[in-house]
Amino acid sequence: MSFVFSLLVSLGAFLFASTVWYITSSVDYFFFIWHPTLMAMVILMATQGIAILQKAETRQEKEGALNFHKLMQSITFLSVIGGFYITYTFKAENNAEHFTSPHGKFGLITFSFILIQSIAGSTLVNFPGVVGGAAKARAMYKYHRISGYFLLPLIWLTALGGTQADWTKSQFDHLWIWLTAAGMVLVGTVGNINSNKLKVR
Ligand code: HEM
Repeated sequence: MSFVFSLLVSLGAFLFASTVWYITSSVDYFFFIWHPTLMAMVILMATQGIAILQKAETRQEKEGALNFHKLMQSITFLSVIGGFYITYTFKAENNAEHFTSPHGKFGLITFSFILIQSIAGSTLVNFPGVVGGAAKARAMYKYHRISGYFLLPLIWLTALGGTQADWTKSQFDHLWIWLTAAGMVLVGTVGNINSNKLKVR
């Protein structure tokens, strides 16, 4: 069953990201399209990076999954900085007010949360001395895991908000596709939490 749930997560994340990339590659080019393009990468990488850890069971699988997780979340980190920079400078250049829509406000919170989560996770793995040594760092993994499970729905809600922004709807207005993708990821991720009882490591 764990395989089916993981497949649902991957397909859902890919459906969402590829739909965004379909939109951004079909509209006339302008600087802003890099915002949804990069944020779709955030959705795909952040979601996959969690799914892979959920599936790992043996020690060897966990080691491989942790490496994959680091890679995926590093791409997430860089993409979210890029995606935020694009929308922020685009609005600044057009003298538009920042963080006015619910998506923009949620986006600012989500952006900050991703930065904190990534920096904290990377510190635990790469600089365990900061928290008092490897054993202490390992004991703190569970906080990183729990906050990750808060962050993932926040990322998805923010991205769903982006799909309902006026510009996006003027290009592509099929809510059912976004909800199908999010629903697949929700079922798959929650299903895998239960089957592994949160024992990621
Ligand atoms: C985790 C993913 C995302 C984050 C963190 C995020 C973040 C943000 C932020 C902070 C703003 C406001 C910038 C400002 O006011 O200076 C914004 C604007 C915008 N975003 Fe996103 N975004 C995400 C995903 C998406 C997606 C997937 C789309 C489209 C499919 C999208 C479309 C838009 C649009 C059209 C705006 C301009 C209108 C508005 O401010 O509401 N975003 N985003």
